[in-house]
Amino acid sequence: MTSVTSPSIQSIVEGLHEELQALDARLRSTLDSDVLLIRSIADYIISAGGKRLRPVLVFLCCDALSARPKSDFAVSLATTVELIHTATLLHDDVVDESDLRRGRATANAEFGNAASVLVGDFLYSRAFQVMVATQSLRVLQIVSEATNRIAEGEVMQLMAIGNLDLSEADYMNVIEAKTAKLFEAAGALGAIAAGASLDHEHMMANYARRLGVAFQIADDVLDYRGDADVMGKSLGDDLAEGKLTLPIILALAKSAPAERDWLRSVIQNNRVTHEHDHLPKVRALLESCGALDASMDAAARHANAAASEIASLPDSRAKTWMLDLCSYAIQRHL
Ligand code: IPE
Ligand code: IPE
Ligand code: MG
Ligand code: MG
Repeated sequence: MTSVTSPSIQSIVEGLHEELQALDARLRSTLDSDVLLIRSIADYIISAGGKRLRPVLVFLCCDALSARPKSDFAVSLATTVELIHTATLLHDDVVDESDLRRGRATANAEFGNAASVLVGDFLYSRAFQVMVATQSLRVLQIVSEATNRIAEGEVMQLMAIGNLDLSEADYMNVIEAKTAKLFEAAGALGAIAAGASLDHEHMMANYARRLGVAFQIADDVLDYRGDADVMGKSLGDDLAEGKLTLPIILALAKSAPAERDWLRSVIQNNRVTHEHDHLPKVRALLESCGALDASMDAAARHANAAASEIASLPDSRAKTWMLDLCSYAIQRHL
């Protein structure tokens, strides 16, 4: 299963051991297909692990609102979100031309782009089968809206490649769609699994959305500052493809004119050449002008806002872990 090393998330994963085992068993049975290539690729990406963060959110948001033992319904919802997440990763790695994921060669590097895209479609549609079997129209609404918004986010991001005028607001719009929307759905689904009120569903959705924003900003910082061996994925890809994330947007605003012009030329050039050559120098510039620290400050603001959303919940083990996730999102190395 997962091999998470960050201490705060490790204790959560251990505490949710039974639920995550049920999730893994369900994922495995759900990915059965008569088509060998589908089984091979699905197993390749799922068995490589991953942090299972979105299922963890479903389970914790459910636990924080209900003392009832976890139902099969909750496991179905957690399976649905992890399948959708995995499908987006298969597609994202093709689009980003990434070659490392979850500590292994990406599926696109191993099996090719066409196979990755098609098996990604298989995972999306399987997620919908699992979701429809729950017979909950509210679940269908939430998940179909989230899936559609993720696709919009990925397309908006594609259109923004190399756009040197991309604003912080444009960037926020992209990450709220491509990443935070699925977190939001996971939070809402946890509340639904608990049989909670609409107010509590909104609370969990808001908490998880803000957490997702913090998580993605941190991811964009780690693309410059992280350790690829620890993260188990290719880093520096954002720069290589000319993608403007918050660190670059802030650096273009903060740096001296000569450095700004140089950075602009690197991004425009990379849009075509997809080089990693300038990464060390760009990383040094992002550190020296304070853009990476300022990005982490922004991530921390969202993580704190996520924590505030759930302040009124009664104390519980699940609430403590949900607050730990807010710290984890901005302190993580993985
Ligand atoms: C990767 O998500 C995609 C982003 C939103 C940054 P995770 O970091 O949760 O990926 P896994 O599931 O642990 O591999
Ligand atoms: C997140 O964006 C991808 C999705 C939400 C589909 P990234 O492109 O930053 O994710 P990584 O870094 O490849 O995991
Ligand atoms: Mg990517
Ligand atoms: Mg990234």
